[in-house]
Amino acid sequence: MILIHPDRETLSFAAAELFVREARQAVAERGSFVSLLSGGETPRRAYELLARAPLRDQVPWKRVHLFWGDERCVPCDDPRSNYRMVREALLDHLPIPPSHIHPITCEGGADAGAAWYEAELRAFSHGGIPRFDLVFLGIGEDGHIASLFPGSRLLGETERLVAVATRENEAIQRVTVTVPVINQAALIVFLVSGEGKAPIVREALAGMREMPARLIHPVDGKLFWLLDEAAVRLAQEEGEGDLT
Ligand code: 6PG
Repeated sequence: MILIHPDRETLSFAAAELFVREARQAVAERGSFVSLLSGGETPRRAYELLARAPLRDQVPWKRVHLFWGDERCVPCDDPRSNYRMVREALLDHLPIPPSHIHPITCEGGADAGAAWYEAELRAFSHGGIPRFDLVFLGIGEDGHIASLFPGSRLLGETERLVAVATRENEAIQRVTVTVPVINQAALIVFLVSGEGKAPIVREALAGMREMPARLIHPVDGKLFWLLDEAAVRLAQEEGEGDLT
């Protein structure tokens, strides 16, 4: 399903409201809500809105578990850290038990960090692939998702849940979940904002070429694209999909 909002603020509010709705429903039905969060700039505002009234007070935070889709191997207070971004925007303002916060860490190196996070995910799902209630994803201008970049061998990964990734021309290593983890989720939501994303959104929605984002097909769940008008403009001009 494709949902278009006028601008980043309304998109962010819609994403935050969706989180609230899914969290309340999951807790009512199953007693807990487990979400995989995206880094990047786009979701930051949604996290900020979730961190304050009225939305903050509508979430049963003590029943919420938060995981990360990817992380750069940098100290946790580094401005490039996805954990730091989410902590500042969201976690610092919530009554969420610390044991329910599951950041990726690279203590001991990227390989050790990936192995540890794999064990963390497996432990949370009795050895299998966790079924997240909600996954937020961004998309890069090259079609990457989490830290799964075009051309990466990790795109075909079927065994590992978590792996070390590198990005061309970037010195640091990263740790990322793999495609099967994302596709196992009950609800996957792309958050995409701004005219810089318009070309890749057009290509992604039209299936014009292969890219990591095109590997996302929930096994037994739903896929939403939350876009703002700037991001969807080129796709709309070509009349791709059901862009109403
Ligand atoms: C990250 C990501 C990455 C991100 C996209 C889009 O940590 O950077 O998880 O996949 O979602 O690069 O990023 P923006 O929202 O900043 O455009």
